[in-house]
Amino acid sequence: LRICRQWIISLFIIMVTIEGQTRYSIPEELKRGSIVGNLAKDLGLVVSDLEKRKLRIASEGGKQYFGLDLRKGDLIVTDRIDREELCGNRLSCVLPLELVIDGPLQLYRVEVEIQDTNDNSPSFITKEKVLKIAELVNPGAKFPLESAQDPDVGSNSVRSYIISRNEHFKITVKTHKDGRKIPELVLEKALDREKQPIHNLILTAVDGGDPVRSGTSQITVIVLDNNDNAPQFERNVYEANVSEKATPGAEVVSVKATDIDEGLNGEIEYFFGDQTPDLVLSLFDVKPNTGVIVVKGPLDHESHPVHRFDVTAKDKGNPEMDGHCSVEIKIIDVNDNIPEIIVKSLTSPVPEDAAVGTVIALISARDLDSGDFGKVALTLFSGSPFKLNPSVSNHYSLVTSGLLDRERSGHYRVKLRASDNGRPPLSSEKILDVELSDVNDNPPVFSQPVYVVYVKENCPPGRILYSVSASDPDLGENAKMSYSILDSKVQDVSVSSYVYINSENGSIYSMHSFDYEKLKVFQILVQAKDQGSPSLSSNTTVHVFILDQNDNAPTVIYPSSAGLGSLSLQRMPRSAKAGHLVTKVTAVDADSGHNAWISYRVAEATDASLFGVNQYTGEVRTKRAVSEQDDSSQRLLIAIKDDGEPAQSATVTVSILLEDGLHEPILDIRHKAAESGGKTGRLALYLILSLASVSVLSVVTFLILAVKCVRNNSASCCVRRSDCDDYKNPNRNLQIQLNTDGPIKYVEVLGGDMMSQSQSFRSCMSPMSEYSDFTLIKPSSTSDFKEVLSVLDASLPDSTWTFESQQVS
Ligand SMILES: *[C@@H]1O[C@H](CO)[C@@H](O)[C@H](O)[C@H]1NC(C)=O
Ligand SMILES: *[C@@H]1O[C@H](CO)[C@@H](O)[C@H](O)[C@H]1NC(C)=O
Ligand SMILES: *[C@@H]1O[C@H](CO)[C@@H](O)[C@H](O)[C@H]1NC(C)=O
Repeated sequence: LRICRQWIISLFIIMVTIEGQTRYSIPEELKRGSIVGNLAKDLGLVVSDLEKRKLRIASEGGKQYFGLDLRKGDLIVTDRIDREELCGNRLSCVLPLELVIDGPLQLYRVEVEIQDTNDNSPSFITKEKVLKIAELVNPGAKFPLESAQDPDVGSNSVRSYIISRNEHFKITVKTHKDGRKIPELVLEKALDREKQPIHNLILTAVDGGDPVRSGTSQITVIVLDNNDNAPQFERNVYEANVSEKATPGAEVVSVKATDIDEGLNGEIEYFFGDQTPDLVLSLFDVKPNTGVIVVKGPLDHESHPVHRFDVTAKDKGNPEMDGHCSVEIKIIDVNDNIPEIIVKSLTSPVPEDAAVGTVIALISARDLDSGDFGKVALTLFSGSPFKLNPSVSNHYSLVTSGLLDRERSGHYRVKLRASDNGRPPLSSEKILDVELSDVNDNPPVFSQPVYVVYVKENCPPGRILYSVSASDPDLGENAKMSYSILDSKVQDVSVSSYVYINSENGSIYSMHSFDYEKLKVFQILVQAKDQGSPSLSSNTTVHVFILDQNDNAPTVIYPSSAGLGSLSLQRMPRSAKAGHLVTKVTAVDADSGHNAWISYRVAEATDASLFGVNQYTGEVRTKRAVSEQDDSSQRLLIAIKDDGEPAQSATVTVSILLEDGLHEPILDIRHKAAESGGKTGRLALYLILSLASVSVLSVVTFLILAVKCVRNNSASCCVRRSDCDDYKNPNRNLQIQLNTDGPIKYVEVLGGDMMSQSQSFRSCMSPMSEYSDFTLIKPSSTSDFKEVLSVLDASLPDSTWTFESQQVS
């Protein structure tokens, strides 16, 4: 190959002879010994002469690159010839040579032109270059690069630049005025740091030689970041649930955005979106650095079950860029609302006569919680006569479930409870105050069913006899009482002429003084009437008992003083023994009881030793046998006195005539009595029977009274007058009628009217009768116990005792 090349080079040697001058042209870098040209031939010299004539190169000093081959007459290369060294970048490079030959001395000038060969590669001074380009630089931007150096000239020097294969850059070459070629990097396509932050390029400079030589330089393009990327959220929509009980600070959800930019351009802060409602701002907070959304205020499922808002992420670039996402937060219901009881309407007061089922109130219950938590049950505490009737959803009516009575309870506190379905359930209570209004449903009630009043006779009129009172549990006008006396007759006279009543307070006044001897008892029917509409009334009876006063003196009935002044003449035989019944003074007293309890006393006597009078019976008897000395006409003044206070008295004078030979009429009487022995025997039996029954009844009565008195206290016992309803006919008295025929013949037990005003006191005995010295003392009623009681009550002081007899002569 070398030989071949030499051949080719040899062909290039051009022999030039210009005006005696010979010119050769050789490529540089020829091998030593390479023949430049045949001087002998070219200069017209004979080869054999050359040695002899001493052809030589006139040295001018400096380096010699050529030599001579005298045997052949050739100019040869003796040293390496580097054109670039000799001539730099001059286009022509000629080395002049002067040849000298002796015999004759001749000077030849020879020029050797050194032709360039491509022996240098282009090269860059900086092997690695770093270029920083902002990523936002527009395509078309140019970045000058360093030129490559190539010492070769002409076509052998740098001809073009090539850039390594890439998407973004190309290379153009700008030729300076001085011919320097400067490569420029041209941005063909926009850069994106985020895609490729660094581009490694290789710039190659190529020369035009043959073979082509090249040199490279490494170019590193660093793409500088621009804030060209907005933060990007991981999701478009974030959803979260949070309990409405969540306390401030509780984390709800965290949003996350990323920004692929670098540095501040990639640093993200989170904010609420611009359109975020104030409510959300007050309830939630977003942490700028972390994107965590936390609870800030009290949540309420019921008012806002869901909140929607946007969150913006902003980077810190300039200008900043932002990204958005939306957040939806559902508030999970918690049973946090207490059910409420709402009273829509309440009727109060309610008339106490409202029918069962009357609607009192409309009530509804509600709970703000949703779903099951909001279901409410309303219940009523028992104990009031009301019940709840459910109607449409959560509405109830409160109705009466029984009869009402204001007098028993005028006011109800109806307690209601609403409870929801939560776990645990919440509940609330409410109290309805229901007032009842009065209806006149209660008649007045007298303090006693029957009143018993005792009035002394002869009291001046106008006194308050008694005050009855009635009460009425109703209210107001319904309880306002007025008293009146119902018309009835007392001894054929209207009762209103005896008494009148204060209609306001029930005080009963007398309009009369009463006379016991004429009127012992009477009834007043009093009516109490309320002012309701319609009004109600009730009646009571006031039994007025007139109490006896000792206002009557005893009156002598026998011996009658009507005909003979106060004198009566009694006859008796002188033969009478001591104890002979001379006569019987009988007096009566219109009063009763002690006031009528008469006692007899001898006030004056002709002979006080002869006659005496029985204090109780008034029987005048001889105290001793009559003697011959006794005056035949005797006078006795008998004082009769009652037991009243003060006592009243009367006197009677009995004249006694002592006669001789007078029959003993008593024997006759005794005989007659014996004749009618069967009759009197029966009479005695009657007497015994009635007396026995009377005493048994008395004992029973007193026993019962005693028991009652012990049980109650004695005071109340003795004024108790209940159960006296049968008092209307208290006069079913046992009356004993003595029927005597001369002496006592019979006694009749009769029913009679004790209160009869025609009652009189009658002497019923034969004055001679030995058997007439009894006094019938009996309770005025024997028929039943009630009557006994009432009569005992009614006639406490004296009137229990009745003495009645009838004389049949
Ligand atoms: C929120 O709760 C609902 C049901 O209450 C459920 O379907 C949904 O998946 C929940 N969402 C989240 C983010 O937990
Ligand atoms: C009833 O009223 C009269 C007159 O005002 C009075 O004298 C009397 O004492 C009153 N009676 C009672 C029980 O208050
Ligand atoms: C009260 O007596 C009157 C008259 O005797 C009678 O008309 C009325 O019905 C009686 N009232 C009552 C409640 O007994």
